[in-house]
Amino acid sequence: MSLKQQIDLAKLPKHVAIIMDGNGRWAKQRGKNRVFGHTNGVKAVRESAEACAELGVEYLTVYAFSTENWNRPQLEVTALMTLLMKTITAELKTLTKNDIRLGAIGDIDSLPKGVAKQLKEAIAATAHCKRMQLNLALSYSGKSEILNVAKILATKVQAGELKAGDINEEVFERQLFTAGMPDPELLIRTSGEHRLSNFLLWQLAYAEFYFTDVLWPDFDREELYKAIIDYQNRERRFGKTSEQLVP
Ligand code: IPE
Ligand code: IPE
Ligand code: MG
Repeated sequence: MSLKQQIDLAKLPKHVAIIMDGNGRWAKQRGKNRVFGHTNGVKAVRESAEACAELGVEYLTVYAFSTENWNRPQLEVTALMTLLMKTITAELKTLTKNDIRLGAIGDIDSLPKGVAKQLKEAIAATAHCKRMQLNLALSYSGKSEILNVAKILATKVQAGELKAGDINEEVFERQLFTAGMPDPELLIRTSGEHRLSNFLLWQLAYAEFYFTDVLWPDFDREELYKAIIDYQNRERRFGKTSEQLVP
């Protein structure tokens, strides 16, 4: 039985999140510079998005650039932004063809003007697509996202629009970048690193974590299927006992 056939379509995660890591090491292993690794990581994004959409996953959120990544060498940052621009333009047709809607989370206005503009245009151009939403996390920081919600709510309280006592999880979530989306049930991180690196701190509160040593440019459909099969074999207890879960 193929890996794909082993997936139980009735038990798919609605939302998958991926920390795409290991591009630099992949390039280094080949005696190339880090940017070569990023360029070769694009195919893995395409394959993951197509595979998720085909299976019926509703949201895929990929960590493409963290706020901390601004501290990388200027040459690498510039190359990443250029690659992002090129990729958005080149992939627009594929997105529409696959009926995938583009989304973005993070401090989009901190991106170079051209990148932000193109991103917004691509988001608008695919807004009608229904099969899946692909969110790019760009200039994203989980802590900043949460802090920002605190500021928005504090301002509302100050203005008398909201009572502090009425703030609950639902009110809070409405101000997150992911408002209206289910929380990811599955988080994948490639390259053997076992940390969150400031990704979706609120939204991953109850996610299943899947780590693989595969470096991002080598990640493909089959690797994605493996992660989903692994997820489907987990027992998600949400604080209860195993016995309580028996229907
Ligand atoms: C992930 O690969 C891509 C980005 C963070 C933009 P890295 O560039 O972090 O690759 P490694 O971890 O150095 O191998
Ligand atoms: C996390 O990867 C950010 C992205 C994948 C975009 P990093 O490679 O930047 O994270 P650290 O430095 O290993 O924590
Ligand atoms: Mg890394």
